Amino acid sequence: MDKILIGPFSQLLSFDHTPLKGALTDDQIEIAKYAGIVVEDGKIVAIGNYNDLKKSEHNEAELLLMADDTVCVPGYIDCHTHLAFAGNRANDFALRNAGASYLEIAESGGGIWSTVQHTRAASESDLTAHIIQYAKELLAQGITTIEVKSGYGLSIKEELKILRAINKAQQSVSVDLIPTCLAAHMKPKDYNGSSEDYLNEIAHELFPVLKSEQLTNRIDAFIEKSAFTADQIEQYFSKAKEMDFDITVHADQFSTSGSEVAVRFEAVSADHLEASTDLEIELLANSHTVAVALPGASIGIGCAFTPARKLLDQGACLAIATDWNPGSAPMGQLMTQATILATAEKLSNAELFAAITYRAAQALNLSDRGRLRKGELADFAVYKTDNYQNITYRQGTLKPIQVWKKGTLIYT
Ligand code: NIG
Ligand code: FE
Repeated sequence: MDKILIGPFSQLLSFDHTPLKGALTDDQIEIAKYAGIVVEDGKIVAIGNYNDLKKSEHNEAELLLMADDTVCVPGYIDCHTHLAFAGNRANDFALRNAGASYLEIAESGGGIWSTVQHTRAASESDLTAHIIQYAKELLAQGITTIEVKSGYGLSIKEELKILRAINKAQQSVSVDLIPTCLAAHMKPKDYNGSSEDYLNEIAHELFPVLKSEQLTNRIDAFIEKSAFTADQIEQYFSKAKEMDFDITVHADQFSTSGSEVAVRFEAVSADHLEASTDLEIELLANSHTVAVALPGASIGIGCAFTPARKLLDQGACLAIATDWNPGSAPMGQLMTQATILATAEKLSNAELFAAITYRAAQALNLSDRGRLRKGELADFAVYKTDNYQNITYRQGTLKPIQVWKKGTLIYT
């Protein structure tokens, strides 16, 4: 691919040297003014003052001129979604708003199990089409990398169908889809045997196929009263580690215990954490496990927000993701959710943008994206505004005018 010089941008948020962990102030964003980006072979080869770049490129680069008043940010990374589902749970939402709890609804026929029925009834190609549609909605928000979990199949055959659908969808979208196996979402109600038997079967029969078909290198589990206990998951995660999978955990959503397991197994991330206490916060802050807040689930369920301020102040690496799913988090709007969390938890703009860019990349164990600097993927979003603060100020209603993936304009 040829070299292109893109710009000038009024402001470009680079996060070149911004720390991986802990609290941040807005002067740590590293804002380049009147900036340009030189792109070649999908990667950033230079970033700097637009006029200087124009001179140094000596007409070698094709120029792609920006309109006046534009802000360039790293492509956002949604590091926790459940896009691979069929059906919807509008009735669960109505029941919750009328006073029923998430767990009560699950026990009385709604919840995860009802989405499992719909997802099992969908064909692989139906599911692929759904994933493509949702991924395109996220792309229009400036999201260039999307994690997608299975977890609504809950049998070897059905989990494979979902993970194959995610991999198929990748062939039709330009954003990167990062699949994760969440066969340990809950014990399937039609499984004849104990939770341990189910997990054992998945680990011994599904994990090898995930490897041989290269369907995913990530294993997730929901540790909660309604799903699996820390003890039940022990063997499962040991097997995953032994087979060199990255581990991620649905932790401390309604009660504590998941983050302790996450830290002990050196999970790449512990997600939810709405119920985390000072003990879990300290554990996470002193670990390499990224703490992922999912404000969409707090808004969708009507429960507490993840203690993001405390996590950052203790030194944790905090990411924010949509958790987009038909049950707890049906909204799927990353910037809106991140700004609501920022208002509730008092997060700086630097902390918010870091949480949906390079810190979210860390949650996915990806080191090639999330910052705008030489050598990283040329993934970025462009807004029509002269001040980046307007992006959070408008709480997600200011949308990007362009999205670039690996140096190619993929949305305008
Ligand atoms: O991350 N908590 C567990 N899993 C999802 C919700 C799944 C569902 O309700 O369908 C979550 O919130
Ligand atoms: Fe989730």
